[in-house]
Amino acid sequence: MLNQKGFDQWASQYDQNVEQTDESQKYPFAGYNEILAEIEKRVLSRPHEKVLDIGFGTGVLTSRLYRQGCGIYGQDFSEKMIDLARQKMPDARLYQGDFTQGLVRQLQKERYDAILSTYALHHLTDGQKVQFLKELLPLLQDGGCIYIGDVAFETRAALEICRAQEGQRWDPDEIYFVVEELKEAFPKLQFEKFSYCAGLLSLQK
Ligand SMILES: C[S@@+](CC[C@H](N)C(=O)[O-])C[C@H]1O[C@@H](n2cnc3c(N)ncnc32)[C@H](O)[C@@H]1O
Repeated sequence: MLNQKGFDQWASQYDQNVEQTDESQKYPFAGYNEILAEIEKRVLSRPHEKVLDIGFGTGVLTSRLYRQGCGIYGQDFSEKMIDLARQKMPDARLYQGDFTQGLVRQLQKERYDAILSTYALHHLTDGQKVQFLKELLPLLQDGGCIYIGDVAFETRAALEICRAQEGQRWDPDEIYFVVEELKEAFPKLQFEKFSYCAGLLSLQK
């Protein structure tokens, strides 16, 4: 699992790496662009969006929302990722903080129309995911929604098939979403599959 330093080192090459992996439809980023585009469309379907992005990275998605008038808030632990994102979004409120410790204090005080996270929350254990989502839900405005785009599977069996297919390429340190299991804590959770290894989870308040 990459730590803060690992993400700092990856930052300058990140956008290029992800694009290449997505274009070749390879794990783990097959479906990346489509998922981000879908989240962008849904967020912009509501006016005056105030958006929180957890693990925003170089700001690929949030910078598009920023340019279209959304108020952007975010948390990431990589200084280098934050620097790159800040260049694209000078007025966004971006904070450095480890989400395994929860949300930084400044972000807990706000209320958001949308909370999103793409390809980041697989750094939490399944138990931490449940706890973190429970922390995030009350921060949504009425009618607001949490969108999570990531490596994700409807069932544990589907995850195991993908793990077997990927062999050595599978990252054993990342803990991917299994929707049927997360639904036990969040029965309203929706899942749409975008590629053989990734999808969009949405959770409305
Ligand atoms: C694979 S990148 C995804 C970036 C962006 N959301 C995207 O879709 O392109 C994961 C991001 O999550 C951040 N991240 C990973 N673990 C984190 C943690 N424990 N706390 C805060 N940020 C974390 C990394 O620094 C990195 O910017």
